[in-house]
Amino acid sequence: MRVPPAAALGSPGSVRLFLTLVCAVVVAVLYILLCYRTRAQPCCRAPGLRGSPATSSVRSFQGYSRVPDGKPLERALCRHCAVVSSSGQMLGSQLGQAIDGQECVLRMNHAPTAGYEQDVGARSTIRVVSHTSVPLLLGNQPYFFQQSQETLYFIWGPAKKMNREKMGSTYQVLLKVMEKYPQLQIYTLTEEKMTYCDDVFQNETGKNRMKSGSFLSTGWFTMILAMELCEQICVFGMVSDSYCREKNHSSVPYHYFEKGRLDECKMYLMHERARRAGHRFMTEKAIFSRWAKRRNIVFNHSSWAGSSGNGNEVFPYSRLRGRARRPPDLKKWGVKSGYLPVCGNKTLTARCHQCVIVTSSSHLLGTHLGAVIDGAECTIRMNDAPTTGYNADVGNKTSFRVVAHSSLYRVLKRPQEFVNKTPETIFIFWGPPIKMQKSLLKIIQRVCTSFPNMTAYVVSPGRMKQFDDLFRGETGKDREKSRSWLSTGWFTMVIAVELCDAVHVYGMVPPSYCGRHPPPRRLPYHYYEPKGPDECTTYIHNERSRRGNHHRFITEKRVFASWAGLYNITFSHPTWT
Ligand SMILES: *[C@@H]1O[C@H](CO)[C@@H](O)[C@H](O)[C@H]1NC(C)=O
Ligand SMILES: *[C@@H]1O[C@H](CO)[C@@H](O)[C@H](O)[C@H]1NC(C)=O
Ligand SMILES: *[C@@H]1O[C@H](CO)[C@@H](O)[C@H](O)[C@H]1NC(C)=O
Ligand SMILES: *[C@@H]1O[C@H](CO)[C@@H](O)[C@H](O)[C@H]1NC(C)=O
Ligand SMILES: *[C@@H]1O[C@H](CO)[C@@H](O)[C@H](O)[C@H]1NC(C)=O
Ligand SMILES: *[C@@H]1O[C@H](CO)[C@@H](O)[C@H](O)[C@H]1NC(C)=O
Ligand SMILES: *[C@@H]1O[C@H](CO)[C@@H](O)[C@H](O)[C@H]1NC(C)=O
Repeated sequence: MRVPPAAALGSPGSVRLFLTLVCAVVVAVLYILLCYRTRAQPCCRAPGLRGSPATSSVRSFQGYSRVPDGKPLERALCRHCAVVSSSGQMLGSQLGQAIDGQECVLRMNHAPTAGYEQDVGARSTIRVVSHTSVPLLLGNQPYFFQQSQETLYFIWGPAKKMNREKMGSTYQVLLKVMEKYPQLQIYTLTEEKMTYCDDVFQNETGKNRMKSGSFLSTGWFTMILAMELCEQICVFGMVSDSYCREKNHSSVPYHYFEKGRLDECKMYLMHERARRAGHRFMTEKAIFSRWAKRRNIVFNHSSWAGSSGNGNEVFPYSRLRGRARRPPDLKKWGVKSGYLPVCGNKTLTARCHQCVIVTSSSHLLGTHLGAVIDGAECTIRMNDAPTTGYNADVGNKTSFRVVAHSSLYRVLKRPQEFVNKTPETIFIFWGPPIKMQKSLLKIIQRVCTSFPNMTAYVVSPGRMKQFDDLFRGETGKDREKSRSWLSTGWFTMVIAVELCDAVHVYGMVPPSYCGRHPPPRRLPYHYYEPKGPDECTTYIHNERSRRGNHHRFITEKRVFASWAGLYNITFSHPTWT
């Protein structure tokens, strides 16, 4: 059957139907455009869709029970949420309008809006409140309980304070508030929810919250609630995890409404270091930045630019994972004494701010990281890992190449690839002193004569011993007695720490990777040897073997994990979580 053209539709009813359809299409197109725009923007523009009912089916949220009847929270998801930090960063931000433009606005504790509307907005859909802040709400009842009737309150606290049957002290106070203001909506986090929030902390940091002397912050509970309640979260005023470690960070009050009292970064650093009763504000933020990669979370504070949302999956391993004893300060070893010049007159000095280590792993294949890697100040490669033919994934540049005695021939017999193609490369050869001092040294020198621009160093005998000592200090095992060989990765990591302020490693798997269930997919050990052995098989075999000498690849990675926070080392492709 032929469909008549629109103009041929005569009756007024059909015209109305047609117009309705056109309107629907226009609305749909606008909706798609607006959604696309909000998605494409790194910042949190007001989406302009507040209150529209599109996906508003009511859900039930276990873990939050109403005072006094214990009913679970029931409401529709919020499409766009603003999480408003109480940080002094809010002062002068002029973000009020952007915040109020979000469908739901989440605030913490008793952070006021009155008098700060320009910077923090005026609406409060939800307040997440610590049991310790409940008295502060009581101190301003007209504002919190009379003017803010639409606000939902979520109170968190330890079981002792919050218990309903045993009438915990905070719960009693909440009951009295409800008697006085029966229209209020107050929820408490259930004991199961509190335990769950602890478990999330443990999963993310590897540390038991209580045993590590940590308190969760109201921000932690707020982010967990927001992830359950919101389709998209924009966090305002929260600085990134690394912000306070930067030298030029600004000094603002810890709370925007408590001027001149506490300094935000001082507070964060003090708590992060505290042995007991510390809020791990910085660790929490590092975790939020990881969540942001999986969930629809954006951070409006400029300090997050580059640390999140760049898709690079960079996460500095939490400091909390380190052990109590600090390893020797590798930066104090002294570059000059450790590496003996063989040829060339470039000096080896600690000179790179930012380095990347490009591993030889097949994890790099298909990543298209080439341009990113070449953008780094210094690029470090290992052994005979080539760039030709793999540029798109591993880049072109080689500032340093760390080469094992066993790979020396493979590198030097292809000078077009390794020596001539990148005359800026500095070679660092390592090997047992007995070999390096004689036969192999001569070979290097001979190649240097043919390529006068080549620069090469060998690891000094004294430094070789230091590498062994380091292994013993970090693993508790004597290298020789445990029949272990150090890998080129071990040398490369230490050299990178010596030469660079910050190191980013591409293509190294985390220590737990090969033990995962189900086992990770098979991948060649080297990206340039597609028919070579499987990576995890090689790692596990080496790690377990007792007879003969073996590389302890997995143990080495455990040590790297413990160095990460200390020496500014980050990992991606795959990420270390
Ligand atoms: C933060 O939000 C404001 C208001 O929407 C926007 O103008 C600004 O660009 C955002 N900043 C960042 C870094 O996303
Ligand atoms: C913690 O991690 C385990 C294992 O990955 C997972 O089964 C569990 O659901 C996680 N728990 C929480 C609270 O995230
Ligand atoms: C601190 O310095 C970095 C790099 O030099 C810069 O990107 C950043 O904007 C500075 N931060 C502040 C708060 O000035
Ligand atoms: C050593 O460096 C200087 C300048 O840095 C250069 O002129 C000279 O040619 C170099 N010598 C060798 C042997 O590379
Ligand atoms: C590497 O160099 C080749 C040849 O000069 C070039 O075509 C390619 O775009 C470069 N790759 C990257 C990632 O820069
Ligand atoms: C060595 O480097 C210089 C400049 O850096 C260049 O002019 C010269 O051609 C190079 N020599 C060889 C043999 O590559
Ligand atoms: C860590 O690396 C960053 C650059 O990525 C640098 O600004 C910072 O100073 C480094 N921190 C330490 C402790 O070396």
